[in-house]
Amino acid sequence: MDGNPVIEMLGRRLRLGVIGGGPGSFIGAMHRTAARLDDRYELAAAAMSSDPDRSRAAAEQLGVPRAYGGGHDLLAGEAGHEAGADVVAIMTPNDTHHEYAMAALDLGFDVIADKPLTNTMAEARKVVDKVAETGLVFCLTHNYTGYPMVRQARAMVAEGQLGELRLVQVEYVQGGKATEDDPDPSDGLPWRYDPVRGGPSLVMGDIGTHAHNLVRFITGLEVAEVAAEVGHIVPNRLVDDYAGALLRFDNGARGTFWVTQAAAGVENCLRIRVSGTRGSLEWMQEQPTALTVKPIDGPVELRTPNGPGTLPLAARASRIVAGHPEGFHEGFANLYSDAAEAIAARRSGRTADPLALHFPTAYDGALGVRFVEAAMTSSAANGAWTDATYEEATDGTL
Ligand SMILES: NC(=O)c1ccc[n+]([C@@H]2O[C@H](COP(=O)([O-])OP(=O)(O)OC[C@H]3O[C@@H](n4cnc5c(N)ncnc54)[C@H](O)[C@@H]3O)[C@@H](O)[C@H]2O)c1
Repeated sequence: MDGNPVIEMLGRRLRLGVIGGGPGSFIGAMHRTAARLDDRYELAAAAMSSDPDRSRAAAEQLGVPRAYGGGHDLLAGEAGHEAGADVVAIMTPNDTHHEYAMAALDLGFDVIADKPLTNTMAEARKVVDKVAETGLVFCLTHNYTGYPMVRQARAMVAEGQLGELRLVQVEYVQGGKATEDDPDPSDGLPWRYDPVRGGPSLVMGDIGTHAHNLVRFITGLEVAEVAAEVGHIVPNRLVDDYAGALLRFDNGARGTFWVTQAAAGVENCLRIRVSGTRGSLEWMQEQPTALTVKPIDGPVELRTPNGPGTLPLAARASRIVAGHPEGFHEGFANLYSDAAEAIAARRSGRTADPLALHFPTAYDGALGVRFVEAAMTSSAANGAWTDATYEEATDGTL
């Protein structure tokens, strides 16, 4: 990424307010680092806990100029501040995404929010409609779409290098919940284990939505129908820790989907294979700089960031020359930097580079919520094929 389009368009960095990501959060630090990596943002304000004192203390500890006691205080305070935040980033427990996103959009903030978009389809539709009504930018941090080789895969598929797509296999396998330890109710139920707060399915909300989004991002296909089993494999667990599904795509292609957080010893294995009439692509998150290409009529090829054959969408996502590994932080930052360009363009009446406009949106997030809903409906019907399209969503709370 050359230059700084935000400075060129606005003459200053975007001011960012963050809600969430306080003590104990893994993803909060990722957001803040991602925002700073390319100098598109400055951290102007933060509300970092649901507890007002802890919220202010955490923000002050980080040296954030304006520390607030809660998310709604931040939104009101920044909306009324003469040099208030332009953009609000939301990284709170899942049940609060809808409330903060809607309030932020109502007050005219562009929004960057973590997944899942919401816990219900009814809420997801409201966010999608509000984004359309306001014209504000909404970036959902399905951060795996920021890796250069994932973007290379998307660009190669879009160019037709794989021919017509026929098969997709995706898996997201983790081992963090492989033991039988249950959350200790005397400490209060952690939000992820509470269906009201964490959403209808732990594994689907945590990682199933990432896997679903990655498939759509690389292939450009939509899931038309799903036949799923969603449940738990660790005995006596009250929440879902695995889901397996067959997929039918809108072009007739077929797919498999397999996600679990209970595979002992596995770390963060998000992996995808896409096959078309002319060849296949394979990528895995634990080795993100390698995209394997298997043409039908030639030897296996390896694509690497900024290596030979890099397409413009992938080149844009790498900061350094070939052979210098970039990883999770940089991929996450690509979403922030692309969103920044879209936001600066919107605010200055200019046009963003079309290559900046590949970040996941509220609509992508709503399709993720829809996929969770359809998979659970299918599972409750013993794996019956179930419509997964946006139009056929039930708007129900699962
Ligand atoms: N993109 C990714 O790969 C990724 C990875 C992990 C988590 N996430 C998402 O990020 C969100 C947070 O997950 P986490 O793992 O950081 O959770 P966490 O429980 O570890 O941390 C949540 C943080 O938010 C703060 N918080 C809670 N309620 C708040 C409120 N109302 N206002 C302000 N701050 C509040 C808490 O004090 C805590 O610091 C979830 O939606 C999760 O799905 C995304």
